[in-house]
Amino acid sequence: MAPSRSRAPFLSLLTFSSLLPHSTWAFACNDIQAQGTHFNFKELGGPHMVHWKEEDLGHELMWKYNFTVDLCDSLKWHKGGNLATECHHGARVCGIRENIDLSTDNNSTITPIDIAGTYSTQTGRVIDAKFELLKDPKSNSDAGPEGVRAILNGGRFPFDSKKEGMNQRAIVEFVCDKERTGLEHAEKDESPREDDSKDGEKDGKENDGDKKEEKLSRREENSKCEDSDHSLRFCGYQEETEDKDKKVKTLRLEWRTKYACKDAPAVDGGSHWGFFGWFFIIFFLAIAAYLIFGSWLNYNRYGARGWDLLPHGDTIRDIPYIAKDFARKVVGTVQGSGSRGGYAAV
Ligand SMILES: *[C@@H]1O[C@H](CO)[C@@H](O)[C@H](O)[C@H]1NC(C)=O
Ligand SMILES: *[C@@H]1O[C@H](CO)[C@@H](O)[C@H](O)[C@H]1NC(C)=O
Ligand SMILES: *[C@@H]1O[C@H](CO)[C@@H](O)[C@H](O)[C@H]1NC(C)=O
Repeated sequence: MAPSRSRAPFLSLLTFSSLLPHSTWAFACNDIQAQGTHFNFKELGGPHMVHWKEEDLGHELMWKYNFTVDLCDSLKWHKGGNLATECHHGARVCGIRENIDLSTDNNSTITPIDIAGTYSTQTGRVIDAKFELLKDPKSNSDAGPEGVRAILNGGRFPFDSKKEGMNQRAIVEFVCDKERTGLEHAEKDESPREDDSKDGEKDGKENDGDKKEEKLSRREENSKCEDSDHSLRFCGYQEETEDKDKKVKTLRLEWRTKYACKDAPAVDGGSHWGFFGWFFIIFFLAIAAYLIFGSWLNYNRYGARGWDLLPHGDTIRDIPYIAKDFARKVVGTVQGSGSRGGYAAV
């Protein structure tokens, strides 16, 4: 009748799973948490691309960048890819830079830049993703849009150089926009760039839009993001100073999507049951089946009545005392901060 032994594995399972969220080598894009608010960005998964062009006409140089982001998974290499044209395995944000020498025949070289990801087997650097609400709930100012900011780390360029390399990171601001899924004019990896002149035809919502237009332009006034109607926009790739004068080259993106709204539509409501939900349902169903079947057996075989009907009827009558005993043990364990330890039941 000693219940503590049988419950020990369950308790240790709870303790173990409470440690899991602290790991920083990955995050689940379908349950992103910022200051207690949950976001589901599953629909934004897959590789998405933005472009940027930088010129130094004085030196007759031009750099063309393709930045690719996959929020939900590490980026896969293209067929026949190699490290000369692809980021290292584990990258979730990758920049491909094309250096064009305008003084020669536009002679160009390609340089991949690892911006964010988890490179546990190469450099041991991890993405260490941090999420914060755009509108700080603690600050009293009303300013700031609704949404969440993601800070993704782990990149370095050049990748292996401890001395000369510079850390890289990506800061993506997911801004609530109820009229956008976040995939408008999305450029999936490999697809040719959308022709902006066709936007009106492709965007069916264009017509209902004086209000939308107004909102959009007001936002653009105080943002440095590229002027485009794409849901995912490039906002900068500059050296920034992290704490302690540490320089970090930062890719800034803005992603307008309804999934960043507080009342975002549920993408997959069912899966929130998770392991423990199903565990408890099955657990109680099993107990119910056991009690019913056991009672039926006792009734038929032994002609039992009342308490005697139930299998282990005397044990069930003891349950309040067992529970009290168990609670006392749990409290004792917590107060003794596990000094007793030694549940070697597994
Ligand atoms: C080189 O590229 C520039 C800008 O893209 C273009 O104007 C110029 O014609 C190109 N020159 C050659 C020789 O291809
Ligand atoms: C292109 O650049 C490489 C070195 O960066 C040089 O060896 C090559 O001769 C150049 N090609 C042309 C056509 O200028
Ligand atoms: C960048 O993307 C464009 C459009 O998808 C593609 O044509 C170009 O080859 C890419 N550049 C590099 C260096 O991968």
